[in-house]
Amino acid sequence: MLRTHTCGALREGDIDQQATLCGWVDSIRDHGGVLFIDLRDYSGITQLVIHPEDAAHAFEIGESVRNEFVLSVDGAVRARPEGTVNTTIPTGGIEIGVDKISILSKSDPLPFGLSDDIATDESTRLRFRPVDLRRARLQRNLRTRARVFAAIRESMADQGFVDVETPTLIRSTPEGARDYIVPSRQSVGAWYALPQSPQLFKQLLMVGGLDRYYQIARCWRDEDLRADRQPEFTQLDVEASFAQGDDVRGWIEEAMVAAFTAAGRGDEVQAPFMTMTWQEAMDLYGSDKPDLRAGPPIVDVTSVFGRTEFRAFAATIESGGAVRGWCMRGGGDRGRSQMDRLVERAKELGAKGLVWLVVEPDGSLRSPVARFLSDDEVGALKKSLGAEPGDLILLAADEPRLCSQVLGHLRLELAAPAGHSPEATLAPLWVLDFPLFESSATGEPTPAHHPFTSPILEDLDKLETAPLEVRSAAYDLVINGVELGSGSERIHDAVLQERIFETMGMASDEIHARFGFLLDAFKYGVPPHAGFAVGLDRLAMIILDEPSIRETIAFPKTQTGADLLTGAPAPIDPRQLVDVGIAQIPEA
Ligand code: AMO
Ligand code: AMP
Repeated sequence: MLRTHTCGALREGDIDQQATLCGWVDSIRDHGGVLFIDLRDYSGITQLVIHPEDAAHAFEIGESVRNEFVLSVDGAVRARPEGTVNTTIPTGGIEIGVDKISILSKSDPLPFGLSDDIATDESTRLRFRPVDLRRARLQRNLRTRARVFAAIRESMADQGFVDVETPTLIRSTPEGARDYIVPSRQSVGAWYALPQSPQLFKQLLMVGGLDRYYQIARCWRDEDLRADRQPEFTQLDVEASFAQGDDVRGWIEEAMVAAFTAAGRGDEVQAPFMTMTWQEAMDLYGSDKPDLRAGPPIVDVTSVFGRTEFRAFAATIESGGAVRGWCMRGGGDRGRSQMDRLVERAKELGAKGLVWLVVEPDGSLRSPVARFLSDDEVGALKKSLGAEPGDLILLAADEPRLCSQVLGHLRLELAAPAGHSPEATLAPLWVLDFPLFESSATGEPTPAHHPFTSPILEDLDKLETAPLEVRSAAYDLVINGVELGSGSERIHDAVLQERIFETMGMASDEIHARFGFLLDAFKYGVPPHAGFAVGLDRLAMIILDEPSIRETIAFPKTQTGADLLTGAPAPIDPRQLVDVGIAQIPEA
């Protein structure tokens, strides 16, 4: 090595040793003819002191040094003079009295400062990513991410899973997004797709007797990007034979606890994680990815208003609707205009109206509609919601699902400032029994997860008659309101698999053209199997309390899929197009 120590290594115990350090110039100060340079690497900062009398040549070089030059320095480790000890950094008790200095590399002035409190626009950061990576924040993120990945690999191996690589030039896998496609030179006119996930290969590995597979797999999806979506991302992909959903969830929980532990947050999660069905999640939180931290669940209070004089509620209940409520602890300190804004917001979200009620210190309710409510109704309402003085109650009357959706939105929006501080704990949750299908724009049922997910067998007789009512053996892992992963028990019967494709509106020849290889493999003995995939960029984002997965990826793409550093996507040499038989359509 060109150095004896890293820039964060030396301590008082090293005083009087000779050391060679290498690193970047973090700052330079000239104190009346004596140069102080802070030398930085990933591990920390060490103060260098250069006296012109002690080291005239080094001083001369030192004077030409600028921020971010890369230096090598030799010198003795010595105690900092009294009164100059810096207790905020681990090396703050020592300094290096430099006797030799070499400039290994010069630096232009940086496009932005490296300190974490300097706000720099993200496109500049991405354009100059190698510089951005020097920031403490990204150093911490990438190093923590690496520890988390290592812990996950160890946990999966300990649990008997075999790491198998699957191809990335494949026939398209349907995961609901567009494929990235790759033309073939050897079969002009034919195309590969990049995998949206290794879904079919992992199922084929089960046919192949691998029994327990895992992979930290790259996936590609051409979809609209958001803070928690990138065109290429990384999954912990898992599949196991002779296993059911609860087995898979147990293995994933163990890997997740190992991941959180590796990042120093193991004490915040405890297996087994909480579970609820999709239907419960939709009723209680108005969402299939509830954030358990954002306050209590929504409560159906229709029965409280069975004989109400309040016309809006009576009419809704009469026509088969529901009244649902949510209680915000301590939310009663809002003024009239804030309440009016809440009502407006509820209407934007599709509600017909919103009733707000504040529980007064004497237990009475303050609300524009209080006079329409009987004492019995007030008592029963407070009891159902567990409302205490100072709380805010919100009620919506409508079609039941809409009530929960609106209240669920308001719940998140109201809790955001209080419940989502960066130190907020981790609240993992399994959501079970998703619907098998959702209705698509074209009217055909489209798989809510993917078409290889097994229906819950007791719902199977509704497959052709009422497909949207069929539940599936699919489950999601949700943490803090983010969908972290999805999985399911799979169909392992070729006949049922074909029935599902048919329900999706696929004709027999299309089924065999696209999925013949799967159906063929299913002729030769398929173990029942189940699996899961965790979005690891999202996991890193949550573990690190970052607002976007881009902060956990070394070289991420922008919202439009551009790599601002290398300029990809970019035009290519026309000869490359000729090779694969592609002609560019001139721009209109
Ligand atoms: P699914 O499509 O739900 O399931 O993906 C699993 C998890 O991958 C993450 N993820 C993403 N992360 C970043 N950017 C994206 N564009 C992106 N898309 C998905 C999410 C998501 O929960 N083959 C199935 C799994 C299975 O059934 O075993 C699958 O891929 O965290
Ligand atoms: P109105 O009778 O329409 O003037 O409504 C009286 C109050 O009840 C207003 O505060 C409305 O926002 C509220 N309201 C009306 N319809 C509903 C509803 N379906 N659900 C909840 N609140 C409602």
